[in-house]
Amino acid sequence: MLNIAVLISGNGTNLQALIDAQESGKLTSGKITLVISSRKDAYGLTRARKHGIKTEVVEKKTCIDEEEFNNLILTKLLENNIDIVVLAGFLSILGQEVIWEFDKRIINIHPSLIPSFCGPGLYGLKVHEEALKKGVKITGATVHYVNEIPDGGEIIMQKAVKVLEGDTPETLQKRVMEEAEWIILPQAVELICTEYSRKDKRMEIKTLAEILKTNSYLGRGIVIGISPDSKHGIIAYFIMGRSLNSRNRIFVEDNEGIRTQAHDPTKMTDPSLIIYSPVKVLGNNTIVTNGDQTDTIYDYMKNGKTFEEALNTRTFEPDKPNFTPRISGILNRSEKSYKLSILKSCGGNPKSTQRFYFNYHNPLPGQGHFIHTYEKDGAPLPSFEGEPIAVLVHNDIDVFTCEIWDSLNFENKVSLFVRYIDLSSGKYITRIVNKNV
Ligand code: GAR
Repeated sequence: MLNIAVLISGNGTNLQALIDAQESGKLTSGKITLVISSRKDAYGLTRARKHGIKTEVVEKKTCIDEEEFNNLILTKLLENNIDIVVLAGFLSILGQEVIWEFDKRIINIHPSLIPSFCGPGLYGLKVHEEALKKGVKITGATVHYVNEIPDGGEIIMQKAVKVLEGDTPETLQKRVMEEAEWIILPQAVELICTEYSRKDKRMEIKTLAEILKTNSYLGRGIVIGISPDSKHGIIAYFIMGRSLNSRNRIFVEDNEGIRTQAHDPTKMTDPSLIIYSPVKVLGNNTIVTNGDQTDTIYDYMKNGKTFEEALNTRTFEPDKPNFTPRISGILNRSEKSYKLSILKSCGGNPKSTQRFYFNYHNPLPGQGHFIHTYEKDGAPLPSFEGEPIAVLVHNDIDVFTCEIWDSLNFENKVSLFVRYIDLSSGKYITRIVNKNV
């Protein structure tokens, strides 16, 4: 379990959101073991004490200079074996000595959509005063890594909030907190804790964010895995598109599964290959594919045949010159196992099919496997190569959904489906994100 320190300067409502997330089981990969306040009268200190969390006060005015202030904070963090530092309304700028020691392990919540209304001097109510002065219609909150540039580190999560007629800085601040800050801060903390703890165990497993952010076009992708707490089977399916026809799509729920649908039917030029049911449920099995082979697998298995027997009757897609691979997956929740498959052309030859099946028996909790149609962008598009990639998955469906959606290339992403299936009861929760709304 990782030790989290939360640094505050005031009321501590974001600290409260983290404490609540911890107590309701939404923050499970780390524990708040220390709260440091830069003001001794901060109400956040009372909140921490009420929950039995150790507190420390480090005030700038009692230090000789910035260096002493930073050294004191660093000492407290190290003495308490802190792994992750969360700035939650901490209104001092941390020095390099702390930032370097905790590289990629300090995050901050800022009450605007960075890069708007941020940087030196812009904190707390001032941010909302500036947003109202500028007349923006949308604002929000951002969680980002802390580096030496104030509010300049890599963005982890953002959430937008509407500005309403008659908003004052106070009403806007309250809404941004309620609708954005208190939601994304616990999610981001859980996300970076899981990522850091796996890295700490030196497991050579990538995060989906690492893979997706560095590849602008992977086509369609399937992830199947088991949650770290072993409670859920996890399925994610995303579609990306380059043509207008392909981008003009949304996922809609259909029985227990989903199907693709034209967002604007007047713009649909050719429905073949892009309108299908990516997800279908058959008893304990959830089938997910990038085409109408979902129906083939469903029909074969309904008649007592296997996933492999069904796909042995199919080949890759006929979309010359890409010959897009057919990727498929199946999760059996009672057996707690899953399979993935890819049917692809042999060196772009339209007559020769290669069929690969990957069978995950007793899969490790906290891991999933990711397969996608294309290695990368190109003309023609190169098919996926090699084995499905082991990736980290999370206990919280919203953390996982945000990680995937926020990491997919903005221009090319179209829709995302994520499902968490309770392995003992079969009950599931689903998230669907469509770019076209
Ligand atoms: C929050 O709105 C937080 O985003 C902001 O201070 C407020 C603290 O409230 N932080 C910044 O402006 C950092 N630049 P809280 O003490 O009730 O959590």
